[in-house]
Amino acid sequence: MGTAVSSPPPETRRAVGKKVRQFYEGCSFPGYDDYDSPQALLDKAQKGIYARLLDEQLPLGARVLDAGCGTGQLAIFLSIARRDVVGIDFSWGSLNKGNGFRKKFNMKHVDLAQMDLFALGLKEESFDYVFSNGVLHHTADPYGAFKNVLRLVKPGGYITIGLYNTYGRLFLDMRRIIFNLTKDKLAKLDYFMRQNKIGEDKRHTWYMDQYKHPHEMKMSVSEVLKWYRDNGVEYINSVPKIRLGDRFTMEDKLFDRHEPGTALENLFCQLGWIFTEGKEGGFFLTMGRKPERA
Ligand SMILES: C[S@@+](CC[C@H](N)C(=O)[O-])C[C@H]1O[C@@H](n2cnc3c(N)ncnc32)[C@H](O)[C@@H]1O
Repeated sequence: MGTAVSSPPPETRRAVGKKVRQFYEGCSFPGYDDYDSPQALLDKAQKGIYARLLDEQLPLGARVLDAGCGTGQLAIFLSIARRDVVGIDFSWGSLNKGNGFRKKFNMKHVDLAQMDLFALGLKEESFDYVFSNGVLHHTADPYGAFKNVLRLVKPGGYITIGLYNTYGRLFLDMRRIIFNLTKDKLAKLDYFMRQNKIGEDKRHTWYMDQYKHPHEMKMSVSEVLKWYRDNGVEYINSVPKIRLGDRFTMEDKLFDRHEPGTALENLFCQLGWIFTEGKEGGFFLTMGRKPERA
């Protein structure tokens, strides 16, 4: 584990990719057991503020990519309102689950395809919105993977990346040590593992993904902002917020430009995430916009 550094050699990237892919072949994420229809998927997603705003604010007809889509739940969810959505992932096991659901309900506006973020076979600058949630930090080269998916965004289009935060994941890292020492007997210390209304498969998947993963890295807000700056991407927004006093509410305009605040404010917000974001594993989303062509 560690923070992002300069690009590792290709053999390291391949070795990590192989390990991570094997992991997800045995443990597809996210689990599907609660959702037996598109309506159930929609109802569940609508309960979360972010998913609800996303569905309200992503223009109908937009061309959307979910890079590292896992079982394709976000891709399928966004396609229900007739957006043209592509999901890619290198795990066949995960894609098979998504494709099973997609075919069963004859969902025509979403395609799920097998692809590696380091060998993308998609047309550059062809998507209005690109999402990559919880994926880059499971590669040996998160920055390289970021640059690869950024190439697929149209000029003037948006990229959203979801990453584990260096600070926000502190308590989860501590719980991982406890779980390993106690041979997983204290798993209920994790918030999700105590939620009996969440299905068994979903809880197991969460536990494996959070506590037994073969490769994860963590990023700070300043690292992500530097990725954006170095690639000419304009900072748009983040969830949770990175500026003191800002709050994420139902009124948020996800893709309107927000002020990032100062480096010190970003740091204070992240220190707060140690206490507020621990149950979500210190996960944060950052939206950016690619400049229009000159
Ligand atoms: C934690 S899951 C996230 C799934 C989904 N984005 C979500 O938010 O629920 C990470 C996913 O990234 C995929 N992944 C990791 N590295 C990848 C790579 N190099 N190319 C394609 N997919 C990758 C894994 O197969 C896995 O499905």
